[in-house]
Amino acid sequence: MILGGNKMKKDNNIITESQTRETFSSGLTIFFATLGSAVGLGNIWKFPYLVGENGGGAFVLIYFVSVLLIGIPVMVSEFYIGRKTRSNVVTAFTLLKASPIWKFIGYMGMVSSMFILFFYSTVGGWVYSYAFKALKGDFTNLATLSISNASQIVENQFLTTVGGVYSPIIWQGLVLLVISLILIAGVKNGIERITKTLMPVLFILLILCSLRALTLSGAKAGLDFLFKVDFSKVNSSVILSALGLAFFKLSLGMGTMVTYGSYFTDDNNLIHTSAKVALSDTLVSALAGIAIFPVVFTFGLAPDSGPGLLFNTIPLVFSKIPFGNILLIAFFLLSSIAATTAMISMMEVPVAFMSENWDIKRKHSVMILSGIIFFVGVFTTHPTSIFGNILIFNKNFFDLFDFISSNILLPAGGLLIAIFVGYFVKKEDILKELSNNHTLDNSQTIGIYHFVLRYISPLLLLIVFLNSLGII
Ligand code: PHE
Repeated sequence: MILGGNKMKKDNNIITESQTRETFSSGLTIFFATLGSAVGLGNIWKFPYLVGENGGGAFVLIYFVSVLLIGIPVMVSEFYIGRKTRSNVVTAFTLLKASPIWKFIGYMGMVSSMFILFFYSTVGGWVYSYAFKALKGDFTNLATLSISNASQIVENQFLTTVGGVYSPIIWQGLVLLVISLILIAGVKNGIERITKTLMPVLFILLILCSLRALTLSGAKAGLDFLFKVDFSKVNSSVILSALGLAFFKLSLGMGTMVTYGSYFTDDNNLIHTSAKVALSDTLVSALAGIAIFPVVFTFGLAPDSGPGLLFNTIPLVFSKIPFGNILLIAFFLLSSIAATTAMISMMEVPVAFMSENWDIKRKHSVMILSGIIFFVGVFTTHPTSIFGNILIFNKNFFDLFDFISSNILLPAGGLLIAIFVGYFVKKEDILKELSNNHTLDNSQTIGIYHFVLRYISPLLLLIVFLNSLGII
């Protein structure tokens, strides 16, 4: 797919670029690569703890509605921009002959990408280190302990992992090194091949985890928490978090899907692909929730315990079952891979821009960006110690970068993309691109998409936004 050997230097040379630009090889690989960007720590780490913090079922429902009414239309729009222009997220607007002001979306996307990577690489480091701990057999003794002792030990493990002075930084550095090497190498056959093989395996493992969790005594309480809707728990911050999560989850609002869309084949059905990716991604999140909440209620943990939730529960899921440790190793290895493929897609946004528009070699762009992420990222590495005590707007660096990107920048980017494609692109152009030059018989579906994009998605986004700013 992407990367390496880019011929394009400046906006005006796009024709040469689009002729030499690579594409994914088939509909299936497009699906898995895009799902590889969507599925990541968002599903296994963020979704469960946000559900926990925001009161369960009602949050899940609002999340799902956000995916349908805002996520899918924005994803289709990003694919539209990307495949039509076959270029990076800034140049794309030039090629669409839009006023230069729209390029702001692209620049904002790059800021979002960096902000997310600042804290995502930290959590990526935790996941890598858990894969290593599982490999070393650090959790094998859980089998012999009582329930309360086991959960105590697991919680302590997490505190030590996050609280260490050097080790979280080293793990974070390792994560960045892995991503950089893959990006520099060009990933061509890499991402496509990795995602195609490993996404199904991740799916199967998650199903195994959830089946195991469903046999626990707290299964009913866990499922009730996850799926029983209680509207009394809903307020504007719950809605904003659900919406922000939908953007974060589906890699929207910052140009990732524009960039990936630019590598899609001409015959790909963009609407189908977005629906399939969005729904499969939601299924992965639901499976993660089903794997985690029964454990929370069986072991008496707090559902609203925040970012440590994943790390405090999954090791317990596999304790006391045959081959539990092997499954645990597999789970964290696959989570590491999911995190890695998501991060690659994030970093590709500024890398593509820098190497195509600034004439900086791809290798150097990757090195500069990783250096910045590592340097600033260190401030997020210790949310519970050292820098964790420095508060800005009442948030530590970790929460601040997360809040600004997920709750402000991504929804704002999504809003602008919806307005741009909904109001500033001719309907005929959209019809032509989404029907693959009128070879697909889907004008009705396109009509629904266009209606939702114009009248529903931006309005919902705007209301939630203004409300969160206290304006309405
Ligand atoms: N979707 C990824 C996840 O859920 C995160 C991501 C956000 C990836 C934005 C790319 C762009 O983990």
